[in-house]
Amino acid sequence: MKNGFSQHVEAVREQYDRVAPRYASHFTDAMGKAEDREVARRLSWLRNEHVAGKILDLGCGDGHLVTLASPPPRRYVGIDISPKMIALARQKHPGYDFRIGDMHNLGDFRDNSFDSVISTFGSLSYSLAPTIVINEIQRVLAPTGRFWLQVLSWRYFFRTSHIVNNHLDFVGYTEERLRNLFRNFRHVRVTGINVVGHVMPWLIGLEARTVGRRWPNLAVYLVVEGFGNA
Ligand SMILES: C[S@@+](CC[C@H](N)C(=O)[O-])C[C@H]1O[C@@H](n2cnc3c(N)ncnc32)[C@H](O)[C@@H]1O
Repeated sequence: MKNGFSQHVEAVREQYDRVAPRYASHFTDAMGKAEDREVARRLSWLRNEHVAGKILDLGCGDGHLVTLASPPPRRYVGIDISPKMIALARQKHPGYDFRIGDMHNLGDFRDNSFDSVISTFGSLSYSLAPTIVINEIQRVLAPTGRFWLQVLSWRYFFRTSHIVNNHLDFVGYTEERLRNLFRNFRHVRVTGINVVGHVMPWLIGLEARTVGRRWPNLAVYLVVEGFGNA
């Protein structure tokens, strides 16, 4: 018999399989574009291959991170629970290593085997057992490696542009909860993206550098970033 945890993972897989064909086109409005620009700006360190090294993308979806990074990363593995999202990613980015997989079990990967662990646009929020994922991140991330994870904040509950069913559970984070969960990592920073973007998308870049830094809990997305536990 399946427990609540695996039932939820299956519900997420089913929902993302269902929305896969319209996933990319759902976020092409002014707000989606402004959020993409801000995330790409925040990930500009990926341009330096010596800094980025080997990248693991958790909940990679249709390979959005590869689309956002310029130039696209060279050493990259993306995993996603949804076979349909992975099929899209492979179609969009031939030659890239995309795998069907669950972020709660990174058993395919050796200890300390990645220099960067990244997750964009809230994938980690769909885990109802984030400490399992965080322990896995800690295991596969090199001690000097870097993580950069964009999660949904408590404010996301009030957002109206959800693509998946509103009844699908997700974790809406606060800065305090993230700091507590990532307490074993070094130089942890929590910042916010998109405070008033639903009405003023053009402000997303400016507010991320100001309000989002100072009061991350006001934003729709939180970014928790830092380094391994060398
Ligand atoms: C909001 S989408 C983000 C996709 C992509 N990162 C982006 O920036 O567009 C969330 C993704 O997380 C994936 N996901 C959710 N739970 C997962 C899990 N336990 N393991 C792997 N992927 C998961 C979903 O299938 C979905 O593709």
